[in-house]
Amino acid sequence: MLQDKRILLILTGGIAAYKGLDLIRRLRERGAAVTPVVTRAAEQFVTPLSVSALAGEKVYRDLFDLTDEAEMGHIQLSRSADLILVAPATADIMAKMAQGRADDLASTLLLATDTPVMIAPAMNVRMWDHPATQRNLAQITDDGVSVVGPNDGDMACGEYGPGRMSEPLEIVAAVETHFGPKPLVGKHVLVTSGPTHEPIDPVRYIANRSSGAQGAAVAGALLALGADVTFVTGPADVAAPVGAHVVPVQTAQEMKAAVDAALPADAAIFAAAVADWRMATASDRKLKKSKDGLPVLEFAENPDILAGVSQMTKGRPGLVVGFAAETDDVQAHATAKRTRKGCDWIVANDVSPETGIMGGSENAVILITEDGADPWPRMPKAEVALRLAQRIADALT
Ligand code: C5P
Repeated sequence: MLQDKRILLILTGGIAAYKGLDLIRRLRERGAAVTPVVTRAAEQFVTPLSVSALAGEKVYRDLFDLTDEAEMGHIQLSRSADLILVAPATADIMAKMAQGRADDLASTLLLATDTPVMIAPAMNVRMWDHPATQRNLAQITDDGVSVVGPNDGDMACGEYGPGRMSEPLEIVAAVETHFGPKPLVGKHVLVTSGPTHEPIDPVRYIANRSSGAQGAAVAGALLALGADVTFVTGPADVAAPVGAHVVPVQTAQEMKAAVDAALPADAAIFAAAVADWRMATASDRKLKKSKDGLPVLEFAENPDILAGVSQMTKGRPGLVVGFAAETDDVQAHATAKRTRKGCDWIVANDVSPETGIMGGSENAVILITEDGADPWPRMPKAEVALRLAQRIADALT
């Protein structure tokens, strides 16, 4: 897949640098030539010798290494590649990139280049969430840099949250997509994602365990294939993909209004776990405990957004895809759901607690179309997303 591609891989100083070693192997397995660059801080985590041994090339370490300047020069080094990949990318290198600073070899290469740049951030969750990092991220993406991850998960520092570098195979998939065709350029795709929150009173709500991970990954994969993506998301745990037009909502009714406003679309992917019911009337004051007995919550049915769009008589998207989260008899229930709702495809998965799928990083899905059921092997949600996006592209083109 990456035959003859030259990748300049910059490793910066984070604990995830050890995954950078595996990344070198994976890239080379696919035929890429990897020229490695390490920062001073990266050398605290991996040795230049192991980096260069795995890459099968000299490792570049210092801007003022005169031999290098005579042989090639940092300008040529930065331009001889087809892609510059920064993995792991620390908060520090992101800050330098955002400001255009050039005080070491890595930052100078990044400033001196007109080659496409991709980064795989890795840092502590607080550092990632910090407004300064988020500001830098916005600046870098505005400047045209593409971003893989980070993922949610346990951190080396003992905390939990976004900031873990994507796995090497996820990064490889993003690199392959980068070099692959962009069949969805000019197509508008609507994606719903995350749970909805249905208020009981001003402080309480009904929700579900959806993290929004699969929906965000699908939107990210569609963006990578060149689509123009509107991402309507409930209060999810994971960040919205960079580059989407994001519409945040809380309730099912708000989600329906946002979907209606986002149409027309060439395709609509309903990955959200929408609450089936809301309160018939949410209290505008906090419910109090009372000696007179327990509160009685009366439900009303939420609009079925997927069914509504599937059954539109005018302006229906060319492809409508629903998701089905089931705990038993997955294929039969999902097949029935496809017919009942009137959508074109259903992506079904088993969300029984023992599968670890809800909130986890992997998924095992069955794609149900008019041609029948196609079970996919268990794989990372990012790969499910890429495969699905590719199928969507095939259907739209
Ligand atoms: O009926 P069920 O909730 O299992 O169907 C799941 C599919 O329907 C998902 O694609 C979900 O996004 C969509 N859905 C919806 N509006 C609802 C309920 C579900 O769009 N009110």
